[in-house]
Amino acid sequence: MAQLSRFGVSLEDDLLEAFDKSIGGQGYQNRSEAIRDLIRDHLIQKKVGKGNEEVVGVISLLYDHRTHHLSDVLADMQHKASVGVNASLHIHLDVHNCLEVIVVRGAADKVHEVAGKLIATKGVQNGRLITTTTEIKR
Ligand code: NI
Repeated sequence: MAQLSRFGVSLEDDLLEAFDKSIGGQGYQNRSEAIRDLIRDHLIQKKVGKGNEEVVGVISLLYDHRTHHLSDVLADMQHKASVGVNASLHIHLDVHNCLEVIVVRGAADKVHEVAGKLIATKGVQNGRLITTTTEIKR
């Protein structure tokens, strides 16, 4: 069996409580098991369509538009992106929150890179990348 490492994680009480409730419902015995699965899933997602294979990426970003310059920063990143931005949709969810859905197309590595930067931008509360390809082999 592989050697185990321990690490500490700091997070808000309500977030931890919600996480515990969620994993309990899924049948996890403890947090470590659940976090191991989350990490594996993260790594698998990263492997989907690697390299130069052309993929289409659907990126969703949830953010508060009051965050200083965030809308401008996100728009600027899209203008300078090394992939084609085919479409972007902005929805004003409520008084403060915005949902942006961006469809990009390009080399898989570039799509992952651009999405990673957008999602990691300070102020983005939640972000996702879904990749797909017309080259799916069964
Ligand atoms: Ni908005």
